[in-house]
Amino acid sequence: MSEPFLIGDAMTGGYGRGADILHGCTIAVERGQIAVIVGPNGAGKSTAMKAVFGMLDLRQGAVRLDGEDITALTPQARVAKGMGFVPQTHNIFTSMSVEENLEMGAFLRQDDFRGTMEQVYDLFPILREKRHQAAGELSGGQRQQVAVGRSLMTKPKVLMLDEPTAGVSPIVMDELFDRIIEVARTGISILMVEQNARQALEIADKGYVLVQGANAFTGTGQDLLADDDVRRSFLGG
Ligand SMILES: Nc1ncnc2c1ncn2[C@@H]1O[C@H](COP(=O)(O)OP(=O)(O)OP(=O)(O)O)[C@@H](O)[C@H]1O
Ligand SMILES: [Mg+2]
Repeated sequence: MSEPFLIGDAMTGGYGRGADILHGCTIAVERGQIAVIVGPNGAGKSTAMKAVFGMLDLRQGAVRLDGEDITALTPQARVAKGMGFVPQTHNIFTSMSVEENLEMGAFLRQDDFRGTMEQVYDLFPILREKRHQAAGELSGGQRQQVAVGRSLMTKPKVLMLDEPTAGVSPIVMDELFDRIIEVARTGISILMVEQNARQALEIADKGYVLVQGANAFTGTGQDLLADDDVRRSFLGG
């Protein structure tokens, strides 16, 4: 078995000196694939994402990127290594324009990022149209495009998305998933948390069900969609 491109391996930890939230939790994604994390509210999905991105001190376990142990690295150092993270909340600068948000995303880059910005605008044409508008004036789905676009400005190898379709209509959700598939096809790995579990597992190469900070079920997206226990408990039958 070869090592996944990104893995949070047997992670145990919590916030500050508080009790453990994660209990030996493992999440991973292969190169160019889509991995989806689902589970009930408060299961620790966002906490697991933050742990993989270095925003939480692990008491046990490790995070490895392309075979390298990055457990001790800061989030900023992980960005420099090719990781992008779009958090569940507060993921854009609302008072800045769309274009300023994208420029902020490129803050670590020393090279010319205009080409990347054009790629983001090609992926999300509405953002090109609204590039001078304040991001806070955009619709929910468009804000999520800004957040994803901002993260793409660092040219990540792996993109971590925490509930990218939260609060958007089913049509906008489908469109966002199509764009996410498009990003994965360019070779970027996608590790995402999704509340729209059924639809997300449809596009997932790998799926994880987390319950109380631990892995409850793991399989291909199709495995999980076909599993009676998973369907009954987490997919509404
Ligand atoms: N910053 C924090 N400090 C302390 N405890 C926290 C913090 N953030 C989350 N928690 C706790 O960690 C547990 C897991 O929360 P988390 O946000 O990871 O769940 P989740 O699966 O992402 O839930 P949701 O589906 O609502 O987004 C909860 O008990 C929550 O109260
Ligand atoms: Mg969450």
